[in-house]
Amino acid sequence: MNLKIDVKNVFDFIPESEIFALKDESSAKLKSLKSGDGEGNDFLGWVNLPSSITEENFVAIEKTAQRLSGKSDIVIVIGIGGSYLGAKAVNDALSHNFEMLKGKREHPTMIFAGHNIGEDYMQELTDTLDNYSYSIVVISKSGTTTEPALAFRILKDHLIAKVGAEEAVSRIVAITDSSKGALRQLAEQEGYETYVIPDDVGGRFSVLTPVGLVPLAISGFNIRELVAGAVSMEKICLNNDNLEDNPALLYAATRNALYRKGKKIEILVNYHNKLHYISEWWKQLYGESEGKDGKGIFPAAVDNSTDLHSMGQYVQEGERILFETVISVKESEHDVKVPEDSKDLDKLNYLAGKRIDEVNKMAELGTTLAHIDGGVPNIRIEIPEINAYNLGGLMYFFEIACGISGYMLEVNPFNQPGVEAYKKNMFALLEKPGFEEETKKIKERL
Ligand code: PA5
Repeated sequence: MNLKIDVKNVFDFIPESEIFALKDESSAKLKSLKSGDGEGNDFLGWVNLPSSITEENFVAIEKTAQRLSGKSDIVIVIGIGGSYLGAKAVNDALSHNFEMLKGKREHPTMIFAGHNIGEDYMQELTDTLDNYSYSIVVISKSGTTTEPALAFRILKDHLIAKVGAEEAVSRIVAITDSSKGALRQLAEQEGYETYVIPDDVGGRFSVLTPVGLVPLAISGFNIRELVAGAVSMEKICLNNDNLEDNPALLYAATRNALYRKGKKIEILVNYHNKLHYISEWWKQLYGESEGKDGKGIFPAAVDNSTDLHSMGQYVQEGERILFETVISVKESEHDVKVPEDSKDLDKLNYLAGKRIDEVNKMAELGTTLAHIDGGVPNIRIEIPEINAYNLGGLMYFFEIACGISGYMLEVNPFNQPGVEAYKKNMFALLEKPGFEEETKKIKERL
């Protein structure tokens, strides 16, 4: 198994028996995900997705990647929410920390747009792109989301001005619904290469569809390994009904047991800065899936040890409504030892000869123990190392656990009705045609 879960540091707060009492409930929810008899069952295409990706799918994506890679220094990935976080998370976890300074890469560098409405971001991006050769992957399942549509309009014009209309068409790939939405229509009219986001896979569960795989392949990441890791986790999580053998069941049961005891906030903790966007992806997955009907664990995240010097105080002594889930990485990629210093003015010679990672591991262990003493239960998830295979496994694990957990909370984990509220107000304020009544009402409030 490419992942281990340990919940023993929860038992001081909730007896083991209470967690294991959720055995039948959690496995019934897994059964619902497999049989499709639960709420939101028209959005379960991700459950068996890893094992259903075919050689043909890989070959098509790799062909696109090769074509664009040959003519681009940069691939601009336009998308928001589930249409960008998966690719961003894997890209950042697998990239060199100082990628931007390493000179010319063999594959295009991934840069994002359409994930904000930043005017300065857009200007600075187009200014930068004046000096680079680039391609665009525009991603929107609905094909109508304002942020990516705005960014695409601007970047498409920039690309046409730079390379001409015909060449621009060959540098744009659209990933969207098979038939619906403005992006589908635009792509067909303009003749862009397209990939389909399956109807039954929601944005936040789409990292292993073309949404994640196409940009990652263009940027030179090993998508076959990513998927292989997910396939192996799919086997483990779908074929074991026991909490003891199924990490997703154990995670879902434990976090629900904690929630029912008043632990309303879960902090995902890492000790490897490259995992920052894995946490962002996880926050979207759990926040959008569970936060509804007045319920849900609030997903937060910290990057340690950095955030021990900012959020650490609150975690140690603030409101006791928290629990932590640590993603622990067994082996780091490099081996850097603390040097001996003859003067020892900084008093660090006691660490001489030790690996930096050993210091990091002791920071992790020391923090876990301190937080438990301070009243914060701790779940620990260990992966052997940060690579594509383990990330694929980790992401599938979080997805399936999210489905189980959402069903245990008795919410529909696969919709996001609350996301529409801000859009309605924004459209009314911007006087979008069709929103005349809302415009009138909202202006009365101002
Ligand atoms: O998980 C989701 O469904 C959302 O976060 C969407 O991915 C996000 O709102 C973007 O939507 P779309 O891909 O339709 O542009």
